[in-house]
Amino acid sequence: MLPAEPKTRMLVRRKGPENMHNIDLEGKVAIVTGGGGGMGGAMSLALASHGASVCAADVNRDAADKIADEAHKTTNSGTILPIAFDVTDFDDCARVVEVTRKELGPVNVLVNNAGVGMQTINENYMNEPAKFWLADLDRWQRMMDINFKGPFMMAKLVAESMVEQGWGRIINVTTSLDTMIRHNYSPYGQSKAALESGTATWAKDLEGSGVSVNVLVPGGPTNTGFIPESAPFDRDKLVQPEVMTGPVVWLASDRSDGITNSRFVASNWDASLDPDEAARAVCAPAAWPDAGTQAVWPGAN
Ligand SMILES: NC(=O)c1ccc[n+]([C@@H]2O[C@H](COP(=O)([O-])OP(=O)(O)OC[C@H]3O[C@@H](n4cnc5c(N)ncnc54)[C@H](O)[C@@H]3O)[C@@H](O)[C@H]2O)c1
Repeated sequence: MLPAEPKTRMLVRRKGPENMHNIDLEGKVAIVTGGGGGMGGAMSLALASHGASVCAADVNRDAADKIADEAHKTTNSGTILPIAFDVTDFDDCARVVEVTRKELGPVNVLVNNAGVGMQTINENYMNEPAKFWLADLDRWQRMMDINFKGPFMMAKLVAESMVEQGWGRIINVTTSLDTMIRHNYSPYGQSKAALESGTATWAKDLEGSGVSVNVLVPGGPTNTGFIPESAPFDRDKLVQPEVMTGPVVWLASDRSDGITNSRFVASNWDASLDPDEAARAVCAPAAWPDAGTQAVWPGAN
């Protein structure tokens, strides 16, 4: 049997970086999947507070509604439209894009953030980790569908219209590279490695179109519902979800024009710097381009 989707932990919101206020996202329309969650909520609020119109799409309707209410109370610039959907269902994904287009305008920014962790495979994975061969097939498939097929379907639905507009942003939330190969993290690591690799491939397919594809990761275990209460961590010492706000606002803006196929580690973002400098300091290639150089193609020199 499939486990219930993990409940979203409601957080006390900390403030994002102060020096981002000169980035104006007015006129931009963004979809944040998992927009009711810890990092998705923080990113939705940050984008809206910089003037964007944001659709916070989440399987947890209440969580998305709460983020929209919070935006209504705390920002007087952008808006948040909450939508309930399941990212594994193509018709649902298409409905989110269509409703966003009708209510807010053509989609300029997609943040592929919805995701599930090892709890989907094994509720007690922190205290009783299990080997890969013990995974239930339905749970395994569910994780791959949420973490990789869903982001692919969302990207497929927005890419063409972004190309027609000559501008767009696809921001994929993967994970730290070592988590992709961590023991007892199957198939979480593989689902995120697939999305990391997708980022590099999609970015190349979109080269020259004005549409960028980049990876944004928090940079370590982050204080959201994704990390179970039973985890042996001091939650104040975890990465806090608000680290994502500076880089996501910069990535969603014109300031990141021309930056694609890159990865950004949010916890290394120095908010005391000008955002362009902060971005330059943490920008690295997406995926593992150097590891692919051993392939020998017929006819290539
Ligand atoms: N928290 C961490 O330690 C950590 C570290 C690295 C990367 N990540 C990634 O960050 C992203 C955000 O996670 P978070 O830490 O904010 O966790 P979270 O649980 O707070 O947020 C995830 C959100 O995704 C939503 N979601 C789950 N299944 C869905 C579905 N089928 N359709 C639509 N929405 C769905 C949940 O309802 C939730 O609101 C995830 O992709 C996760 O893999 C998390």
